[in-house]
Amino acid sequence: MEKHNDILHILIDRETLSKRVDEMGKQISKDFAGKRPLIISILKGSWIFLADLIRAMDIDADVDFMAISSYGSGTNSTGEIKLIMDLNRSVKGRDVLIVEDIIDSGLTMDYMLKLLKARGANTVTIATLLSKPSRRKIQIPIDYVGFEIEDKFVIGYGLDFDEKFRGLKDIAVLRPEAYQN
Ligand code: PRP
Repeated sequence: MEKHNDILHILIDRETLSKRVDEMGKQISKDFAGKRPLIISILKGSWIFLADLIRAMDIDADVDFMAISSYGSGTNSTGEIKLIMDLNRSVKGRDVLIVEDIIDSGLTMDYMLKLLKARGANTVTIATLLSKPSRRKIQIPIDYVGFEIEDKFVIGYGLDFDEKFRGLKDIAVLRPEAYQN
């Protein structure tokens, strides 16, 4: 990884990420065998995970995107969910697989589950690369979790701080001084 003053240490290196994402892709393919899920990737954080996950899968799937924001520019969720970009197709009767980079308070997923069920999805399954169980405000059923992590601010592999660091190949912990001032 590039040396950067704001990075405290690497939490999950690229080899570990790759191995786990491959495992998740294989498991999802097995569980969805014979089906054609509609994958909904929640922008922006999940697109790098999605790109690797879908290449680890060997079933047909449709892919669509939604953009949702629950954070301001800082590190703590405001609790306010904003739908920034909606789907351009119906989810009615579809088996939906939500692909997310991180589940923190659970508010975003709770919003998604309610929305997709109200729109008539047949089933809604959740795959997240990261989960911070200690931060949960709402308990939600998560079907696939890549890694459970502690309550540290993480960046890289799609995750940002103020839109920076999404392109890091590893997941790293941000130095607290970078966001506490
Ligand atoms: C992050 C992440 C999830 C959400 C999780 O998105 O990608 O969508 O927060 O938090 P929650 O469980 O507390 O709801 P963010 O709003 O930072 O946007 P981004 O994906 O565009 O970086």
